[in-house]
Amino acid sequence: MPEPAISSSRPRVLSGMRPTGKLHLGNYMGALANWVKLQDQYECYFFIADLHALTTDYADTSNILPNTLEVALDFLAAGLDPQRSTIFVQSHVKQHYELPLLLGMITPLGWLERVPSYKEMQENLAHKDLTTYGFLGYPVLMASDILLYQPQFVPVGQDQQAHVEITREIARRFNFFYPRGGRKARDAGKHPEIRPVAIASWEGDEVLPEPDVLLTPSPKLPGTDGRKMSKSYGNTILMTDPEPVVRQKLKTMVTDPARIRRTDPGDPDKCPVGDLHKVFSAAETLAKVYDGCRSAGIGCIECKSWAANALVQILEPLQTRRAGFSEPRVKEILEAGSSRARTRAEQTMEEVRAAMQLTSAGRQAGS
Ligand code: TRP
Ligand code: SF4
Repeated sequence: MPEPAISSSRPRVLSGMRPTGKLHLGNYMGALANWVKLQDQYECYFFIADLHALTTDYADTSNILPNTLEVALDFLAAGLDPQRSTIFVQSHVKQHYELPLLLGMITPLGWLERVPSYKEMQENLAHKDLTTYGFLGYPVLMASDILLYQPQFVPVGQDQQAHVEITREIARRFNFFYPRGGRKARDAGKHPEIRPVAIASWEGDEVLPEPDVLLTPSPKLPGTDGRKMSKSYGNTILMTDPEPVVRQKLKTMVTDPARIRRTDPGDPDKCPVGDLHKVFSAAETLAKVYDGCRSAGIGCIECKSWAANALVQILEPLQTRRAGFSEPRVKEILEAGSSRARTRAEQTMEEVRAAMQLTSAGRQAGS
């Protein structure tokens, strides 16, 4: 397999996903479908955040490895292309263990406690003891994931925006404490008249540049019970669901509660099936849904079968692609990607160690 070039003039993006097991349509539409498109324009790094899984699942780690492989298969099924993107596993890149320790030293506790999802997750997962150092440190781990690759952009949905914001704050603090060339150089920069020529360009050349969020569209996808599609609600349609399963799940899907009898008119804007049509169906179908539902001209069974048609059409090419990847091949792809990721991450770590004065000439840390 030819190795893609590690350096490229295209802007770099990085994003990751926790290994939650087989991915569903919400994961596909909210993340993967966007990532696939980014491959044309960006130098892409996409990874499976298995160390993040430990922050909540430390007491039973047995699912993490099988889930990692499932997620990798879903990445490939969705169309992430190992020839163009670096696809890797977080725990296979040791720098993801190293940078969090260093960034942890400079991260104020208050920043971590203030992350909106912190208290919320602790409450949602009340059956797990999440009063751990590791769980509180989730944002430090995530900041490290990102900053190791010095990306310009982090494509995420709105739910992850606060995490990218704290990543920027941690980077800013790092760059303040540890400017390239040392503090003397930075302080000299405050007095342009005595700024040494050699470091005249230090501004804008930070070791850990602050990445921007690339807010990716994530359409509101309802699950079969009408709530947001989510693994924890058990209401998902999986990327791997075969056609009969998709059709069966659609049959049980809730509809506009005002439409009790076949003769009652309904409103697709108040119906989760209508929401699916809005995301997946062609304009003509959508028009027939609005007309037929509001005039009681169609039944919900027929309407749902059209929605199922649209889903099957989306899923079919993904499932065909997935069938082309054997487990050994997936592992090979992840290993090749992780190897490239290690090289890129180590480049950043060398800069980090030098800026922190953890390295002296003649002794390279990490070698
Ligand atoms: N926190 C992200 C999630 O829950 C996963 C993640 C971990 C991530 N590290 C990341 C996303 C770095 C983007 C960049 O989905
Ligand atoms: Fe929902 Fe379709 Fe039934 Fe209208 S006809 S209530 S949009 S399932």
